[in-house]
Amino acid sequence: MHIGFIGTGNIAAATVRGLCTATPAPERVLISPRNAEKAAALAAEFAQVEVAADNQAVVDGSEWVVIAVRPPQVEPVVSPLRFRPDQAVISLAAAVSLATLQKLVAPASRIVRAVPQPSVARHFGPIALFPADAEAVALFERIGSAVPVGDEHQFDALCTITAIAASQYAFLGKVADWLVGKGVERRSAARFTAAIAQSVAADADKAEDHGFPALIKEVSTPGGMNEQILRMLTEAGSFEPIDGALDAILARYERPAS
Ligand SMILES: NC(=O)c1ccc[n+]([C@@H]2O[C@H](COP(=O)([O-])OP(=O)(O)OC[C@H]3O[C@@H](n4cnc5c(N)ncnc54)[C@H](OP(=O)(O)O)[C@@H]3O)[C@@H](O)[C@H]2O)c1
Repeated sequence: MHIGFIGTGNIAAATVRGLCTATPAPERVLISPRNAEKAAALAAEFAQVEVAADNQAVVDGSEWVVIAVRPPQVEPVVSPLRFRPDQAVISLAAAVSLATLQKLVAPASRIVRAVPQPSVARHFGPIALFPADAEAVALFERIGSAVPVGDEHQFDALCTITAIAASQYAFLGKVADWLVGKGVERRSAARFTAAIAQSVAADADKAEDHGFPALIKEVSTPGGMNEQILRMLTEAGSFEPIDGALDAILARYERPAS
């Protein structure tokens, strides 16, 4: 596979690192010269990575072209490029619709939107995909958990929940601060809290088959302490703002990029 990246920023670098250390790795990865420092580092790190002369050279030398510039840059960067009908295009740009991409990359018509997380560099993390192109799904499965969906609204909804990380950390930070308030040394408090979060996360994939209520039941002895904390937080309305906050982020995804 010959894969090329237009835009060598944070997520492109993470995806290239993930792919080049996966099995099988692409035979050739062409990257655009911007950002020069990141492009040079990737070329030095992996034998199959080559820095192209410009964006058109990336397109010309690739079977799969990945668009990895920021959303407002997509139109000005991609519209001057000439694509071939036989090429497949993957756009990582949030909030740039399939309809917009179709106009920009014609006559190429095989287009996939994908949103990986930087952890794909280490072969884990979610990757939302639309449409469910089998080859693109297999490509991203090498570097994380690819979740293809059947329409763009669902895709935007999946992208929306990638924004929960900061509030998850805030919750964990509050718990760690409470430990510190009880006299636990800050480093131990952070380590113990992180380990709790990791053990919860490690079991969360059971929800795929059984649902989150089953996981809550599994950890909540009737009359026990998990049940008590959940009840107190629920009664305090702690979970009520979640739907509204996610709706607000989804609205940002569904507004055209500017
Ligand atoms: N970061 C994430 O976790 C993440 C996750 C999923 C999807 N995405 C999406 O991925 C895209 C890139 O995000 P990012 O975080 O990687 O941003 P970023 O680090 O700013 O990368 C964007 C890159 O595009 C380069 N660029 C700007 N103009 C260019 C041009 N004319 N030709 C070629 N390259 C050009 C920039 O180069 P300079 O540095 O020289 O300006 C920069 O290296 C965005 O659309 C974002 O929505 C990001």
